[in-house]
Amino acid sequence: MVDLSYQQLKERITQLEKEVEFYKSFVKELSFPFQFTDYTLEMRMEKRRGQKEPTITSFVSQEKNGVNLQVHIDPSTDLPFERLEAFLAPILDLVPHHIVFVDGNGIITLCNLQAANDTGMDRDAMIGKHIRELLQLPDEAIITLKSIEMNEPIYNQEVLDRYYGIINTRLIHNEDGSIKRVISMFQSLNMMKETEKLAVAGRIAAGIAHEIRNPLTTVRGYLQFFKNDLPDRIISLIDKLLIPELDRANSIITDFLNIAKPAEVKTEKININEFLMEDLGLLLRSEALLHDIEVDYDLDERLNSYDVEADRNQLLQVFLNLFHNAIEAKTEKAMCVFVSSKLHNNLVQIYFRDDGPGIPPTIIDHIFDPFFSTKETGTGLGLSLSRKIIELHKGTMKVQNGDVGACFIIELPVIKRETASS
Ligand SMILES: Nc1ncnc2c1ncn2[C@@H]1O[C@H](COP(=O)(O)OP(=O)(O)OP(=O)(O)O)[C@@H](O)[C@H]1O
Ligand SMILES: [Mg+2]
Repeated sequence: MVDLSYQQLKERITQLEKEVEFYKSFVKELSFPFQFTDYTLEMRMEKRRGQKEPTITSFVSQEKNGVNLQVHIDPSTDLPFERLEAFLAPILDLVPHHIVFVDGNGIITLCNLQAANDTGMDRDAMIGKHIRELLQLPDEAIITLKSIEMNEPIYNQEVLDRYYGIINTRLIHNEDGSIKRVISMFQSLNMMKETEKLAVAGRIAAGIAHEIRNPLTTVRGYLQFFKNDLPDRIISLIDKLLIPELDRANSIITDFLNIAKPAEVKTEKININEFLMEDLGLLLRSEALLHDIEVDYDLDERLNSYDVEADRNQLLQVFLNLFHNAIEAKTEKAMCVFVSSKLHNNLVQIYFRDDGPGIPPTIIDHIFDPFFSTKETGTGLGLSLSRKIIELHKGTMKVQNGDVGACFIIELPVIKRETASS
């Protein structure tokens, strides 16, 4: 064991206490229960439901060698911020809200995964950039900048721009009174609106199923039954128009019912690279050829030793929906669809991107809504059904407008494949 002098020990503890204080002030701001264990600092921090202040349990006794090591914290000394931020980043990735730290000039020093993912940015590339580059909003619409300008924290302000939710900011000052950091935490309420919408859609679907599906089946049955007694002209009308139209209506209702109450997920272990290249590849190949679309793959080899627990057919349906949307967005120009996979912690991120005209910003927030369609013959159920399927697989599905075309990002949890030797 290394022998530390009393002075060294005291300094180390002062430093640790500052770090603990920082965690504590941060966790205090969280609006939900939270628990975090740091094995380097040998402490556990926990904030239970309804508890204002987090409680801290240390693994080590503060009494060592008979010396009382309780040391007073001097708040005027600088906190080792850069180190703390590096430390905090992986912890804050566990938080489902957007958390961004900026300095007094609005330059990002920390950005959690949720903030980067929802804005479609690469988190590491955002460090050192101005916050407007992350949010892609004019400066006057950025609450964090307002907080810097007023030099005041903002409490529970409703935000309604590209996102809908509640923002809070807190300020940390330097000794000279200038702003050291503004911490902003944004709680998105879009998910809540999404759930409400789906609940309403579900209730309507149940009604539609009872009221329309049965008479449709009856009409279809009678048409089939009587058609042979009718003149040829009418038989052809029934076969070519009436029955296909009834079948179309029936399939719309079935799709809609699937959103409200999707078919049971029959999961199996699927290697995602194999699935994308072989199962999906095979299906896309002929259609791609037919529509003059090139399909390119860029698959992360690390994923060869990981599986997803998924329903193969449902997953195929998701990608086929995306592919059909790409085909339908194609102009006279040749089109390329890029499918890539990337291992990210314990998730696979699948990017499905086309280089078509992209999705107009005015509609991008609505494309996952049931029945939202810009197409004359579209039912607007493809994307909402796809997202529902992904969510049933404990994943997420988002859209992002890149420099060209539309890009859909699907994240699914992965499990490391057991090797034969283990
Ligand atoms: N790759 C894409 N490029 C451009 N716009 C797209 C793309 N994918 C989806 N969209 C837009 O999103 C809307 C909703 O898509 P969604 O698949 O849910 O419905 P749809 O394709 O219109 O109808 P359905 O899939 O039910 O036949 C589309 O109408 C289109 O405006
Ligand atoms: Mg579609």
